[in-house]
Amino acid sequence: MPKSSIDHSSPVIFSSLDESPLQQLLDTEFVHSKKVIIVDENTNEFCLEYLLTSITGLEDAEVMMLPAGEENKVLEICFQVWEALTEYGIGRKDLIINLGGGVVTDTGGFIAAVFKRGVPFLHIPTSLLGMVDAAIGGKTGIDFGPYKNQLGTFTMPEMTIVDTAFLGTLPQEEVLNGFAEMVKHALIADIELWNAFLQLERIEANELMPFIEKSAAIKMQIVTEDPAEAGQRKLLNFGHTVGHALEGCFLSTETPISHGLAVVLGMIAEVHLSVELGYLSSHDQELIVSSLKKWFPLINIPVFENEQVIQLMKNDKKNSENKIKAALLKKTGKGIFDQISTDEGILSALDYLRQHIN
Ligand SMILES: NC(=O)c1ccc[n+]([C@@H]2O[C@H](COP(=O)([O-])OP(=O)(O)OC[C@H]3O[C@@H](n4cnc5c(N)ncnc54)[C@H](O)[C@@H]3O)[C@@H](O)[C@H]2O)c1
Repeated sequence: MPKSSIDHSSPVIFSSLDESPLQQLLDTEFVHSKKVIIVDENTNEFCLEYLLTSITGLEDAEVMMLPAGEENKVLEICFQVWEALTEYGIGRKDLIINLGGGVVTDTGGFIAAVFKRGVPFLHIPTSLLGMVDAAIGGKTGIDFGPYKNQLGTFTMPEMTIVDTAFLGTLPQEEVLNGFAEMVKHALIADIELWNAFLQLERIEANELMPFIEKSAAIKMQIVTEDPAEAGQRKLLNFGHTVGHALEGCFLSTETPISHGLAVVLGMIAEVHLSVELGYLSSHDQELIVSSLKKWFPLINIPVFENEQVIQLMKNDKKNSENKIKAALLKKTGKGIFDQISTDEGILSALDYLRQHIN
């Protein structure tokens, strides 16, 4: 049976695939099950063979390949996979393995969570963002029009196995996207991690390797204590209130922006809100914003309209009563959630953001 949304035990294991408990899981609980591996075009090319050669018993697995990219995190793609799962006679005793970045784990998790009311699934994240964030915590989901993750469930994977060997083929741009979430974790919860980031000479996968487990642990701790997002899990939305709205503005246009970049832009705007509300010092604001600008190239950002951003924020599923509630910084390394932001405050933050993008 799949894990229910109230069963929050879902181990996150840092290990090479061949030394992980995956083999044992396949040899015991799922020995007689059909297996489906969901990949996208890139993880099919760069990651699938490593999985198949590290683990035995997956030779007969059905591989389902999704088109890569956020624009494909949509219902139409789920329809196709559900049709294929029906054709293969996949049932609640079978297993879906999501091998990919956040788009594959979010979409594959959603597909599994609602098919026949839930087929067991597990995540093998292959992007940095997946390893420190998307594959942890049991949120599955797809986008709906301009609204990010509008359709989804809280359903825990059987396990998440983090094998950093996959980072060997990850493009540098995607390393930066993952680093954006690592910075968020440091800013909301761990000043030592933030200070370590300030010492980094280059933002590259090898340089970040020592911090991946720590960053993932921050997410794990927060979601374990508040799986249903009733309280402190909302801290993880720092940078995402404005960020998701900006990402949504460009989602189905010819100039989409990556999730990581959207979060960086969101963090700059929300750092400003944190200062305006009297929490963060101007000194810390300057250090954070100058560091973000040094680490992330804020170029080629399409023009956005204030009205559209505010409208998207008000429709964000995390808000209620038409009020925008953001997670902000009380100080560097300490977040604070449920902060009501006025339209004026958001407009001022968007103006501030515009001053910092080229
Ligand atoms: N569920 C959650 O809690 C949660 C948290 C944060 C983000 N997310 C979601 O995650 C998504 C972003 O995740 P992402 O940045 O991993 O995006 P992604 O899945 O699109 O991966 C980024 C790109 O890297 C490629 N790729 C992945 N692994 C690779 C590898 N090892 N080698 C070569 N190429 C590889 C992918 O094919 C894709 O082109 C967003 O949709 C976001 O909403 C979810």
